Amino acid sequence: MRPQITYYGHSCFSILIGGKNILFDPFITPNPKANMVDVSTIKPDFICISHGHGDHVADAVRIANQSNAQVLGAYEVTEWFVNQGVTRCIPMNIGGSVNLGFCTIQMVKAEHSSSFPDGTYAGNAAGFVVKSSVATFYYAGDTALTLDMQLIPLTATIDFAFLPIGDNFTMGIKDAARAAKLVQCKKVVGMHFDTFLPIEINHSEALEHFENEQLQLTLPIINQTFQL
Ligand code: NI
Ligand code: MN
Repeated sequence: MRPQITYYGHSCFSILIGGKNILFDPFITPNPKANMVDVSTIKPDFICISHGHGDHVADAVRIANQSNAQVLGAYEVTEWFVNQGVTRCIPMNIGGSVNLGFCTIQMVKAEHSSSFPDGTYAGNAAGFVVKSSVATFYYAGDTALTLDMQLIPLTATIDFAFLPIGDNFTMGIKDAARAAKLVQCKKVVGMHFDTFLPIEINHSEALEHFENEQLQLTLPIINQTFQL
């Protein structure tokens, strides 16, 4: 079955793949745009954290505790979770892969910064490439356009990519379209847009730009599930 993708706002997605749920970067309760999401119902098997910024980790400890999910992230990220009492962690670093049975997850480079809201150093910001027999996808995290993205299609055929498009803190629309070309993927799910004033985007302009570049952009709707 094709993966089922549920959007929880900002850069938070849950992806049901191979019968398991992987949650990325939960930032829900502080996000007024996501106030229809009932966090207590989110029970993933794994939680991937791209970096330590508050808009990527806000609900992670709570969801890890209520679900007993394992948390994957940079070593410095998982150390912080251990200090918060979340002991089921898989520490990684850029370039490394872990085999979870139903999929493998590789941590890849992101061009961004990373520290926790309490000031704790969080290592390097990262993205993830998830490879499975049903689908392979790239979750970019927060990143600028970077030539390192060209390395991804050397070892993975990306079916769809989650790319930040909100500009200001990450890539904007045009760089996200360039990134899709570097990773050789036509199907893009936009993220990190509209949450705050500086990252509001013009939806029709974004959709038109991707169409002109022969790419397919999905602007997900919060609390909705879709397939690609
Ligand atoms: Ni960030
Ligand atoms: Mn962010």
